[in-house]
Amino acid sequence: MISLAVWARTSHWVKGARVHGEGEAPAEPNQDELPVMGTAIVSGKALAAGSLVLVPAASALPLTGGFACGSAGASPSLCLVLPFLVLPNMLLVYDDTLSDYLDAFLCSTLQTLMTRKPIAYDAYQELADHYAAIIDTKPHNAYYDRPAMIGLWPELDGKRVLDAGCGPGVYTESLLERGAVVTSIDVSDRMIELARQRLGPEADLQLVDLTQPLDMFRDREFDFVNAPLCLDYIDDWRSLFCEFKRILKPDGQFQFSCGHPAFDAEYFETEDYFSVERVECTWTGFGKNVVMPSYRRPLQEVLMPLIDSGFQIEQVVEPQPTDQFRQADLKRFNALMHRPGFLCVRAKVG
Ligand SMILES: C[S@@+](CC[C@H](N)C(=O)[O-])C[C@H]1O[C@@H](n2cnc3c(N)ncnc32)[C@H](O)[C@@H]1O
Repeated sequence: MISLAVWARTSHWVKGARVHGEGEAPAEPNQDELPVMGTAIVSGKALAAGSLVLVPAASALPLTGGFACGSAGASPSLCLVLPFLVLPNMLLVYDDTLSDYLDAFLCSTLQTLMTRKPIAYDAYQELADHYAAIIDTKPHNAYYDRPAMIGLWPELDGKRVLDAGCGPGVYTESLLERGAVVTSIDVSDRMIELARQRLGPEADLQLVDLTQPLDMFRDREFDFVNAPLCLDYIDDWRSLFCEFKRILKPDGQFQFSCGHPAFDAEYFETEDYFSVERVECTWTGFGKNVVMPSYRRPLQEVLMPLIDSGFQIEQVVEPQPTDQFRQADLKRFNALMHRPGFLCVRAKVG
């Protein structure tokens, strides 16, 4: 259980494992897919050769024994295999009674750990309609974040763009207006529905969790990744940025905005500036009070994950509010003129 807790702290803690037939060796071992030699039994049923199961990333190669739980016949990729030797060349076979018990006791716990709900999922589901209703004119977004972000965008006509954490699709709309071919992703199904209403049936909108590998996208598929105000809900930026780098072309660019580390450190009254810490506060500005969890991080944890994952920083902007902001909300305008709320960064594949 201790090691499970450790694995669960990383978003990439499971690997695919391909079941091979008896005596059948994998033609070309794949680093991302452990071969499971012999018979894989899940809930009392043997998985067909070629089935994919998930194993902890720390597993030794190849698995010659183990213990599987899950439901055969359902998506094999939802099966979890714990590696410990039982019998050579065989995964533990257990009868239906034991299977029921283990399914109830272990699978629910382990699969919950495996597919942890993203921290802001509930809050955004609750907030989505209110967010969509005022996002076109809400000063912090319309007259502060978006002018700064859009001002940094490169030429996008005809480019393949990923709009990450797209919310109700207001950025996607601007990207489409610039001639980009856009795929938009978000973890909140309500946000995706609202983006569909805004953008119409042709829009490429997908339900994707940015804390997980972006396996749905090919290497070098995109020219540009736009990620405004969605990274504050992601703990592990290095894993995500490596995925962005993988799906970007060699001359691709990545741009994001996030809470400014100086503002956030003061706002959340941190006693440990240098840590990435989970914080929360109540949002009142969308016409509905919602407790919003996020991660606050120091400046080095904003910039170094880019460098560590192979990007070169091109632009860093601490935005100032526009004149429209002044007209909409003078008090907050004055505050933002003297103390930044957000930070915008553009980087290119290094
Ligand atoms: C502040 S909104 C920004 C929306 C949009 N980018 C904009 O600026 O209008 C943050 C968005 O990030 C999404 N989000 C939060 N956690 C996410 C995750 N783990 N994966 C994908 N999207 C996530 C939320 O559902 C929400 O739509």
